[in-house]
Amino acid sequence: MNKYSTLKGVCDIVPPDDRLWDFIEGVSKEVFSIYGFRNIRIPIIEYTDLFKRGIGEGTDIVEKEMYTFSDRSGRSITLRPEGTASVVRSYIENNLSLLPSPQKFYYQGPMFRYERPQKGRQRQFYQIGAEVFGSANPSTDAEIFSMLEMFIDKVGLKPQGGTHIDTQLQINSIGCPTCRPSYITLLIEFFSKHKDNLCIDCQGRLQKNPLRLLDCKNDGCCSIKKYAPIITQNLCNECLIHHNKLKHLLDLQGISFIENPLIVRGLDYYTKTAFEITAEHLGAQNTLIAGGRYDNLVAEFGGAKTPAIGFAIGIERLALLLKDNEISNSHIPLIYFAVLGDKALDKAVILSKKYRQAGDWVEIGSPTDSLKSQMKKADKFNAESVIIIGENEIKTGIAIKKRLVDGFQEDYNLEI
Ligand code: HAM
Repeated sequence: MNKYSTLKGVCDIVPPDDRLWDFIEGVSKEVFSIYGFRNIRIPIIEYTDLFKRGIGEGTDIVEKEMYTFSDRSGRSITLRPEGTASVVRSYIENNLSLLPSPQKFYYQGPMFRYERPQKGRQRQFYQIGAEVFGSANPSTDAEIFSMLEMFIDKVGLKPQGGTHIDTQLQINSIGCPTCRPSYITLLIEFFSKHKDNLCIDCQGRLQKNPLRLLDCKNDGCCSIKKYAPIITQNLCNECLIHHNKLKHLLDLQGISFIENPLIVRGLDYYTKTAFEITAEHLGAQNTLIAGGRYDNLVAEFGGAKTPAIGFAIGIERLALLLKDNEISNSHIPLIYFAVLGDKALDKAVILSKKYRQAGDWVEIGSPTDSLKSQMKKADKFNAESVIIIGENEIKTGIAIKKRLVDGFQEDYNLEI
């Protein structure tokens, strides 16, 4: 019996899923590069204050979900629950504002949140994130959505109305320090009237983080919040112009979206645009990608005032979606050499070098195994075709190439 296992909510990513993960990460690199994003590798551990300040003291992440510990010199350290705060710290610490503006970065790796594990929700999970600094223009928001549309398309999902699995872009504006306080006052007034019918969590939120009342999934709270004041009807002029221009630019590019005034996000740093891309097929944890603007965070961390926007993709959720729907663009065809005898092995070694140089995946059987057992192994590997080489084939220079899916056979010239 195995003495050790992973922690609850923590998984190994092992074959066959490795290919799918490589594929997802590969597509993100390809698409993000087209849009001018540069790779940034941020640490997994940071001082706890960075997240407290960045994500917000009243958020679920900071209050209940961080993996925080003291290091050997007694400093409070936290395993990163997300990447944005670290990227902002790095942007300031490494003077990345000196790069041509707007500066665009992407990162990928594990994040840690002590949440209740369920399908699509883990304690260690992986994100691919991207952040843009230095542009307040709604065209940058629109560019992010255009990039995500290309990403979604290339991994094999389809934005709304496509033939594969539909994803839906939902946008909102959560205003800025000019317009949000008066909206929050309206919210408090509204929800205070219904206080007794709110869930215990929401009664607490009314004091600490009223915006989060809009996010509650409790049935009773949902029926109340339907009538709550709508934030996009309470924006200041600057936020409203930004929001309307973004919608215009999305229409211009044919990117479909719905406006969802209930999107407020679980992190405090957002301003103006907030969004989620959801996929119904995922069930309860159906947010695949989420993000928004955070125009004040760089200044709050001590940098120059710098507008910014970003998002993160949940890799587990995306992999689940692709697997559940058998979208497997990640398949790499395998050519398997079944070899009978030493001369056959020599031939296969020479030929496999050529195949590999051309970028193909090749495996060679063992000449001490029977043909039957080599064919079984090829099958287990899910090989596309097997090239069978025996003594006779070496003499004639012609071997058999067999396609495994339907058993189709053809001659294969060993001398080319
Ligand atoms: P977030 O909404 O907390 O945003 O997470 C983004 C995505 O990470 C979610 O939509 C989901 O796909 C995935 N995710 C989050 N928690 C879990 C979990 N426990 N298990 C599995 N997947 C999970 C952020 O993290 C922001 N930093 C995004 C951002 C970047 N905003 C601006 N820039």
